[in-house]
Amino acid sequence: MSNKIISHISVIMDGNGRWATQRNMPRAYGHKEGVKTINKIVSVCSLRQISQLSLFAFSSENWNRPEYEVQFLLKLFEDSITKYVDDLHLNNVRIKFIGNLKSFSSKLLKTISQAENLTRDNTGLKLNFAMNYGGQWDIINAVNSMLNDINFVSKNKKISAVDFEKYLSLQGASPDLLIRTAGEQRLSNFMLWQHAYTELYFTDCLWPDFNEKELDVAIEHYQKRTRRFGSLKSSNHIVKKYVK
Ligand code: FPP
Repeated sequence: MSNKIISHISVIMDGNGRWATQRNMPRAYGHKEGVKTINKIVSVCSLRQISQLSLFAFSSENWNRPEYEVQFLLKLFEDSITKYVDDLHLNNVRIKFIGNLKSFSSKLLKTISQAENLTRDNTGLKLNFAMNYGGQWDIINAVNSMLNDINFVSKNKKISAVDFEKYLSLQGASPDLLIRTAGEQRLSNFMLWQHAYTELYFTDCLWPDFNEKELDVAIEHYQKRTRRFGSLKSSNHIVKKYVK
């Protein structure tokens, strides 16, 4: 395996429902198993000194699922954050939630902000959960925030990419590798800006079956890729800003 740096991994965790259906179980069972997989993959990423892991937990479009499934997922988020937050804190993980969080209940919002506040000064893995998130929402939200920022508008006539990024829900290094489980090969509106130059890896493995070995296979694929960021030269290191 080459030692090309991998700093930020993003994941579209797909296939919970199919995993459960294959076992004649309700879809909810697959989502519960999906949480266990998150816990395992977070530990592995921490051990491997990956800096950042961004997980797509609930898209803006997931509200269109049957009401009972949406309610189940919202309760699962709350219970899982409460269950795992202390362990994550002990392991120096910093938790952040991105997305249009306003739509969530005050109880879930409180759980979210407690988890963020407790872990805010941690220096280990940055764990980002995208919830009620859509990449197009993120971009539109950034534009509106920029227009409402009187400090910005009064001083600037043109917008640069570097300025713009400051208004997105997730700043800093973009994902090096996006993993999507369960066979579909699309971005599904996940961090559209941030994935501009990300290497994409698709696997048929369903999320509840994803594990350390599967992660290693994905990382090995990444190690073999040549990253050019639009130029002719290959790059073996992280390029934080692609555009000026
Ligand atoms: C996609 O599988 C999965 C989801 C929509 C939910 C993912 C959420 C979790 C694993 C829990 C996250 C937990 C926290 C703490 C935020 P699917 O239901 O679309 O599967 P299918 O394509 O087989 O139907």
